[in-house]
Order: sequence, then structure tokens, then C-alpha cells
Amino acid sequence: MNEPTDKKCASRRKFLVGAAGLAAASAAGGAARAGNPNNQPPNIADWTKQLGDGVGVRAYGNPSKYEKTVVRRTVSWLTATPESSVSFTPLHELDGIITPNGLCFERHHSGIAEIDPNDYRLMLHGLVDKPLIFTLEDLKRLPRVNRIHFLECAANSGMEWRGAQLNGCQYTHGMVHCVQYTGVPLKLLLEQAGLKTNAKWIMAEGGDAAAMNRSIPMSKALDDCIVAYRSNGEMLRPEQGYPVRLVVPGWEGNVWIKWLRRIKIGDQPWYTREETAKYTDLLANGKARKFTYEMDAKSVITSPSPQAPLKQKGFTIISGLAWSGRGKVKRVDVSLDGGRNWRAARIDGPVFDKACVRFYSEFDWNGEELLLQSRAMDEGGYVQPSKDALRKIRGVNSIYHNNGIQTWALKASGEVENVEVG
Ligand code: CO
Repeated sequence: MNEPTDKKCASRRKFLVGAAGLAAASAAGGAARAGNPNNQPPNIADWTKQLGDGVGVRAYGNPSKYEKTVVRRTVSWLTATPESSVSFTPLHELDGIITPNGLCFERHHSGIAEIDPNDYRLMLHGLVDKPLIFTLEDLKRLPRVNRIHFLECAANSGMEWRGAQLNGCQYTHGMVHCVQYTGVPLKLLLEQAGLKTNAKWIMAEGGDAAAMNRSIPMSKALDDCIVAYRSNGEMLRPEQGYPVRLVVPGWEGNVWIKWLRRIKIGDQPWYTREETAKYTDLLANGKARKFTYEMDAKSVITSPSPQAPLKQKGFTIISGLAWSGRGKVKRVDVSLDGGRNWRAARIDGPVFDKACVRFYSEFDWNGEELLLQSRAMDEGGYVQPSKDALRKIRGVNSIYHNNGIQTWALKASGEVENVEVG
């Protein structure tokens, strides 16, 4: 839906006038949430009449008590046990590109390993000249890098293959997060050990009770993998692999081994459980794709969305996230009519390789029902496909790698529903 230029200008002017007028702003706030008038101008609020907590009371800061709903959530029927399960990032409550550490989705196969950093060791062995064992302090003494990358579970949006299922971007797309990792390039460790000429694959294994392990080709290991110990400046959270996890930029989350215990070097893949019985993609003809590592370009509108309905008509900001496992996101388009017409969204904030970008698209909502969509394009020219286009190639047996275009139906009431368009 391409609005004529003069109409767009008119809506922006209306917004500016509304925000500048004190009466108008107060009326809009009142419509959204009445609150306690005693705490609102011209009265003096309770919090202005008393001293607050002193420094040191909150030794490790937490969000405001009024932000209690901003939490990871689970879907009870999805898995048999909480130890082998998943929780979802509340994407609809966040902005920018960085996920706070405490809100990064979780995926465990045998629960959270609680590792004493003094007992932590990383073993490097197999087809190397010199097997090595690193302590955490050893790793911290080596040259390090800082990289912002998204991490997406291969099964993100996996419940949506056969039609719209879960009502909220937290559930449809919340198995993604994006943080800044600090750690040692894996290449550096491999070079220290010295690779034999037939060293073609690595097998990374976790120290959790599942001993989660995956095979990764040497070309990727030597490219941009990081043996990371920090996330957003602080040490990794236990649920994210404390004290050390593997970072495999752009590739499915399953290979980002947490609680990294060892890396074995070999001349062929190991065909572990997680790359045979799981994390392969069953096609319509009964054959399965294997070693499908890369996460293709994808995007989702996080607001408005089912958990973030619109509260009023008028100036409205569509906000969302886009990412690509094959490089930088180059462009994001937004549609208001289910994909018939597209307009370029505005990407705001930094654009990094294999990282989330934040996009916005503003419009004047007159209360009409809309079908909201977004589609990402990456620097390789790849365009995020419709779900139907994806199904034509991949069938509907799949769980993993569903990067189809999401549709949200915006109702006249402002409520939003997960739907599909034909
Ligand atoms: Co895969």
C-alpha cells in the first residue's frame, strides 16, 4: 500500500501537533491507562515525597517491578519434560537489536549444567599435532574478539509449517536472540594444537548430561566461530552455557554447543543423534536434507502483534526484527495488505554481519482491518519467501528452517491474530 506523499506528510503533521499539545497527550495517556490521579500532575506523586532505596540495596540490578510481564515463556504441551525443552524470548516487549541476557530463549536437552569455573576444562584432541586442555583462565589470557550475532534455533517457527498455530511472536519467532559475545576465535585454538592435513571436521561436545554434540566442517571452524565466555559484557548465564559456549555465526542454534567440554578433530562428520534423528529436514518425497546449518533471511513484526495489540487509532509504528545467517540484512519491506503491496521499512541502529536489525514503518491507522507482513532481503540478494513458496519446495513434514513470511491480522478492535493468507 503506497500512500501518496502528501497524505504521508499530513499524517506526520497531525502526529506532531498531537504530541505538542499538552491536553491531547494527556487525553491519549488517559485512554490507555487511568492509573492513580493522585500521582499525576498537577499533584505531587508518592515517589516524590519519600526517599528511595540507597545505593548498594540493589547489588545486581533488576528491571522495574512494573515490568514483571517481560519474561521468557514456555508452551506446556510442546515437550514432555522441562529438562529437554524450550522457553521463548518476549520479542514483543523488546526494541533495538540486543536481547537482555535474562530474556534470551533457552533450549536444553538435559537441563542446565551448573559448572564450577575452577573445574572447567576445554579439551582439544583428535587429528592434531598436540592435544591441548585449556582452563577458563587460559582462554581469558588469549586474544579475544567482540561480535554481535543472532542465535536462532533451527526449530524456530517450526510449529507453523502446517498453518497458523501459536498466537504471539514470542511463540512463533521467540527462539531467536541477539547479543554481543566476547571470546577467543576458534581458529586460534586450532592453530595452537596444529591441524593434521586430513583434519576436515570438528565435533563439539557439551558438558551437560546430554553431552550434546554436533559435527561442524573445518572451513566454518576456521572462519568465524568463537569460543565465547561473555554475553553483553558479563559472563555467560548458566542457561546460555556458562562458563563457555561455542558461537557459530549464522548457523542453527543446535550447533552452538553450550558448556563446551571438548572439540575433537576428525576427517569426516560423526553423524551424532542430533544430526541424524534430529535436525534433519524431511522432504515430501521421503528423503531428508542433512547438515542444513545456515539460517536463511527471516523477519517478523514484533509490534503490533497478538501480544502487543494496538490501543488507539492514528499515528502507529510497526516495529520488527530481521536477520540472515548468510550476511547482513540489506533491506526490509512491510506490507499492510497481506503481500499485495510493499513499502521499504526504515532500518534503525547498527547493521552487523549475521546479526538482527531493527526496522520500523510508520503509518496512520484509521481503524481498518489490515494484514501485516514483513520480508527481509540479505546482501546476497536472497528474499524471504512466502510460507506457500517454502512449502512447495520443502513439503510440510519439516520442523526446522521455517523462514516463511509471517502474517498478522489487525482487527478493527486493535487486536492482532496469527493468520495465513492464500
Ligand atoms: Co538444519
